[in-house]
Amino acid sequence: MNAPEARPPLTVRVRTLAIALLALVVCVVAGLVLVVQLGVYDVAATHQHLAPVYKLLHHAMARSVQARADQAPPADLDEPSRVEQGAVLYQGHCLQCHGAPGVPPEPFALGLRPKPVNLVPAAREWTAGEIFWTIKHGIKMTGMPGWKYRMADADIWSVVGFVRAMAVLSPNEYAAMMRRLPEHRHPMMASGETASAARQARAEPAAAQLPTSLGSVAEGRLKIDAFLCATCHVIPGVVGAGFHVGPPLAGVGQRAFIAGVVPNQPENLVRFLLNPPAVAPGTAMPPLGLSEEDARDIAAFLYTLRTP
Ligand code: HEC
Ligand code: HEC
Repeated sequence: MNAPEARPPLTVRVRTLAIALLALVVCVVAGLVLVVQLGVYDVAATHQHLAPVYKLLHHAMARSVQARADQAPPADLDEPSRVEQGAVLYQGHCLQCHGAPGVPPEPFALGLRPKPVNLVPAAREWTAGEIFWTIKHGIKMTGMPGWKYRMADADIWSVVGFVRAMAVLSPNEYAAMMRRLPEHRHPMMASGETASAARQARAEPAAAQLPTSLGSVAEGRLKIDAFLCATCHVIPGVVGAGFHVGPPLAGVGQRAFIAGVVPNQPENLVRFLLNPPAVAPGTAMPPLGLSEEDARDIAAFLYTLRTP
């Protein structure tokens, strides 16, 4: 008999390792198949993504765009004439989902998940080439259409020019620019009716007489996701952008004033949510088509946010 063998021969060790790895892969694949086949992940657009899923998807999307955006912008990208041409195209093709300073997205767009983001952060942080690529090719598995076969490159660059300009326009400046420009008429719209007139009609405040009572916190929590509040505000517990277009809403329940103009009391908050510009003229927060009940529920939720 030889001395006791301390370790099995190399080939045996390699084989054991290979079997262990294979078993691991089989388990992972079986787990994924189970998750898919049992319908575990909730695809309902009425429920937000899990925060890690949203972050991962958004990051992967941004990296994918960065890896592909290779076209250089034309020299006249920010020229007023190009920007104005882009503004008309934006009104016809983008406003419905992304809104504009003081203008909310259309009701259908509020229901999209992922949410059509507010474009101010992208306009500030993305290169012109990245914005161009995104508009031209769209983004799979989101509502973002690719415009390649529907808009010429030159027109897409004009939209890019406008998106960059829009990021620094106040609602009043945007409205003034729109008054100067020819309105983009949608072919399906009744003759004479313009897109902005139709939107204006819908944006009228729901009621003049408001009760002072608040609604349901739980409903408000769901509705704050449903009305795209998180595309402009960082809100505790609500999955969405991690940047600020409006003030963060953590601690809003404790603030002395709403939008710096009216005392933070329930009836003022409800009035503000129903029609922000009526309470804070010139504000960049648009009326989002809330019913009075929606506003009371959302206000109830906002008053639970007491720690900044
Ligand atoms: C049908 C709705 C819809 C329309 C119309 C639309 N978009 Fe989008 N857009 C989206 C959605 C949804 C996203 C994805 C947001 C995300 O990644 O979470 C998006 C993403 C983007 C992004 C990437 C920004 C970011 O930070 O993720 C840009 C830029 C953009 N859109 C610009 C435009 C422009 C310009 C137009 C008009 C030519 C347009 N979109 C038309 C829904 C729309
Ligand atoms: C397009 C971007 C945008 C969207 C969408 C939006 N807001 Fe705002 N919000 C703003 C801006 C900008 C302000 C700052 C207003 C000001 O000071 O004029 C603001 C202010 C507020 C304030 C006052 C905060 C303070 O400290 O004074 C509250 C509350 C608020 N928003 C709640 C909401 C809720 C709830 C929703 C969804 C129903 C929402 N917002 C959607 C941009 C937005």
